[in-house]
Amino acid sequence: MLEDDIAQVLISEQALRARTEELAARISCDYAGEELILLCVLKGGVAFLVDLMRCLTIPHAIDFMAISSYGNSTESSGVVRILKDLDMSIDGKHVLIVEDIIDTGRTLSYIVANLQTRHPASVRVCTLLSKPSRREVEVPVDYVGFEVPNEFVVGYGLDYAERYRNLRFIGILKPEVYRKIHIPSQELPSPQVSSADKEA
Ligand code: IMP
Ligand code: MG
Repeated sequence: MLEDDIAQVLISEQALRARTEELAARISCDYAGEELILLCVLKGGVAFLVDLMRCLTIPHAIDFMAISSYGNSTESSGVVRILKDLDMSIDGKHVLIVEDIIDTGRTLSYIVANLQTRHPASVRVCTLLSKPSRREVEVPVDYVGFEVPNEFVVGYGLDYAERYRNLRFIGILKPEVYRKIHIPSQELPSPQVSSADKEA
């Protein structure tokens, strides 16, 4: 069972649902009458996007971007490669980036700067989780689900070695799991954040 690899449930399914409803209510109010595009950063943001959009009461479009960040074993460098770009033009539109987690802030800062060159009406950020103690680059975040401690978390879209995305809660992995799952070293040698060319 996947659940057996979890040391502690940090955020329950019920708490995730309640907070998502609250954020969606605020977003529905803030963007009423505007042309809104929810931009989901693959793959971690998918579960949150799907639940968030179903709670919105205003019309909106969704689009996706896939990026991969280069870095050494423990830090995301902020040097980002776009693997899949948006399908639609954001010219004159209000863009709300939907993210799973903001750690150093480097990935998001790159994405925001990149989007700004495309002349959107606005770019704001909605993240399910934030690890403020890890921040290296300040990025304005408009909607935050939960602040989490400096622990590697999985579930509800977030993975370790592509596993655990389907868990309905956010949990902390048991340390022995890092040793048990074999991952080629260039992909993810440490559970801490991104490594060389890791997809967000
Ligand atoms: P940043 O550029 O350091 O902010 O990197 C953010 C990305 O790293 C997130 O979008 C996640 O893909 C990944 N990440 C950071 N912390 C965690 C974690 O605790 N669990 C799973 N993925 C994480
Ligand atoms: Mg992400």
